[in-house]
Amino acid sequence: MQIILGITGGVAAYKSAELARLLVNQGHLVRCILTEAGARFITPLTLTSLTGEPCYGANPDQGEWRANPSIEHIELARWADLVAVVPATANILGKAANGLANDLLSTVLLATRAPVLWAPAMNTGMWEHPAVQANVTRLKSFGHAVVDPGEGFLACGEEGSGKLAEVASIAEAIQVHGSPKLRSLNGRRVLITAGPTREDLDPVRTLTNRSTGRMGVELARAFRDAGARVELVLGGEGPAPWGVETVRVHSAQQMLEACLARWADSDGLVAAAAVADQKPECPSIEKAKKGDGPETLVLVRTPDILAQLSAARRSDQWVLGFAAESENHLDHAMAKLKNKGLDAVLVNDVQDGKGFGAQANTLTPLTAQGAHPPIGPLSKDQLARAVVQWWAQRLEARPD
Ligand SMILES: Cc1cc2nc3c(=O)[nH]c(=O)nc-3n(C[C@H](O)[C@H](O)[C@H](O)COP(=O)(O)O)c2cc1C
Repeated sequence: MQIILGITGGVAAYKSAELARLLVNQGHLVRCILTEAGARFITPLTLTSLTGEPCYGANPDQGEWRANPSIEHIELARWADLVAVVPATANILGKAANGLANDLLSTVLLATRAPVLWAPAMNTGMWEHPAVQANVTRLKSFGHAVVDPGEGFLACGEEGSGKLAEVASIAEAIQVHGSPKLRSLNGRRVLITAGPTREDLDPVRTLTNRSTGRMGVELARAFRDAGARVELVLGGEGPAPWGVETVRVHSAQQMLEACLARWADSDGLVAAAAVADQKPECPSIEKAKKGDGPETLVLVRTPDILAQLSAARRSDQWVLGFAAESENHLDHAMAKLKNKGLDAVLVNDVQDGKGFGAQANTLTPLTAQGAHPPIGPLSKDQLARAVVQWWAQRLEARPD
């Protein structure tokens, strides 16, 4: 993406350098525009050095009034795939909400047709002021995205709301807001399971597997970026992705209950979790003591979440399963597809430690028609995007 990063005059301006760096590392082209007040907090030299692109705005050599055959504010407005203002002062929110354009950044904001995202930061009293809140509401009514500030200690010594959101969350919001939406997924509700489940033997011991949940979390991000409203039922410890409603669960039974509560309101299910197949028949409430001689652990089956949800599906709902197989991949996956009534299975070869925890992975999609060309090897985030593209194309080809 080609991103204009507008930086206005607040103490949090120093964090825009970290954001610029992160966006560049993610493969985006970033051009910064400083307001005059912004340039009192951070220098164009820092931003140019980090982005490898010119820094515009409060720099006499690169300002909008420089004799220039191109009209700078229009060129920049056209160049941008997205304009993000981080941090956004009360002043710039007020100007943009009311169509004022008296410097380069506010003029670009008015001229651009690209999506706009705001990450405000200010003193709590300013943030809570009805004038600022009304301006934020107005900007949202233009289709702009706002990453609300969080709570914490502010530079002014107060504690409360107004603190710039985390840089990583702002970067994710930029990704979401700037990604093209897919017709078959935009506004649709997608339920995704991810991660391992854990079946406790006693308060300190548990039965689980080597899944990290990374693939399911990346799928949640990819469906979210394509426009879906994603609910993620997540086992394991990994962080929840921004902009995805996440429910944390421990056991297979909890995962089933969380999914059943949401299934009727969903358009589709992606069952990426590695659910434990067995659990101890009699888990102990107290920590089990060491015994003498051999010990036997009696296991019973956990509920089959995918089969239960698939059995309860309406004809307008779709179901994607995963199969982690170490041998006879396609035969096992085809049996799973048929037995559980799935629309497609993504087959993951986990032989020799492949798949779980690996950086790059390959998935082979399988439908009732047979195997499709493998997707990958790709990093898990790229793989998730490719899977979403593949599935969206199939949804779009379906008769209504
Ligand atoms: C030390 C200092 C810190 C400031 N911090 C903020 C801030 O965090 N948020 C804010 O909205 N304004 C803050 N201001 C006020 C803005 O800098 C001022 O409203 C300025 O006109 C904003 O211009 P701009 O929106 O063009 O960057 C601060 C001012 C000073 C002197």
